[in-house]
Amino acid sequence: MFLKIQDLKKSFGQGENRTEVLKGIDFSIEKGNICVLLGPSGSGKSTLLNIIGGIDSPDSGVVSIDGDAMSDMKEKALTLYRRQHLGYVFQSYNLIPNLNVKENIEVGAYLSKSPLDIDDLMKTLGIYEHRYKLPNQLSGGQQQRTAIGRAIVKNPDILLCDEPTGALDYHTSKEILKLIEDVNSKYGNTIIIVTHNDAIKLMADQVILFKDGHILKEYKNETKVPAASLEW
Ligand SMILES: Nc1ncnc2c1ncn2[C@@H]1O[C@H](COP(=O)(O)OP(=O)(O)OP(=O)(O)O)[C@@H](O)[C@H]1O
Ligand SMILES: [Mg+2]
Repeated sequence: MFLKIQDLKKSFGQGENRTEVLKGIDFSIEKGNICVLLGPSGSGKSTLLNIIGGIDSPDSGVVSIDGDAMSDMKEKALTLYRRQHLGYVFQSYNLIPNLNVKENIEVGAYLSKSPLDIDDLMKTLGIYEHRYKLPNQLSGGQQQRTAIGRAIVKNPDILLCDEPTGALDYHTSKEILKLIEDVNSKYGNTIIIVTHNDAIKLMADQVILFKDGHILKEYKNETKVPAASLEW
């Protein structure tokens, strides 16, 4: 197993306000698989992704990648790991405000040993004509596409996407999902997509249904529906 999560727990707050957000999560994902994580708002999806992405740490439990436990990695190794092997599309985009679209995507490319072609990617994402605009001059959907570009351009081993189509219309959502699918079949990246959109589970190799900080159900799809054929 490429990505393995064992008995992961995480709480926030102190004393009476303490809430357990992840209550012992176990699952693993094979290399090159697309995993779709579905669950209601507040169920702990972003918290889980942050821990897998190495930007938050669990109270207990283990995340291991290719046999290496993240908790055993020293700060420097973890930083390098995040830079070189991990792409993260944040729910809140996190674009750098004083860099334009192209420069934001270049940030991702600089960090990678095998970046994709930036102009090609911007064309695929439909933001090529906006490439010299700053984030505050973009629509929500254009910002989201830029954030996706910054993560995908690295061609990362693991791509974490938190609501990658949350701000997009039907047509653009399908294009983005198709892009993620194309990158996956071309480069074999391991991908986790967090979403509220039930239809997206059909394009996954593996589906995880999340509720109140635990896994309600987990299964594999025998056959996958191509992103272009999804309907909702
Ligand atoms: N840093 C934090 N401090 C305190 N509470 C937090 C923190 N981060 C998340 N939480 C709480 O943990 C719970 C899970 O949050 P999380 O963001 O993981 O949910 P989610 O499943 O991603 O929801 P959504 O679908 O709305 O994005 C929420 O109740 C949230 O308020
Ligand atoms: Mg979230």
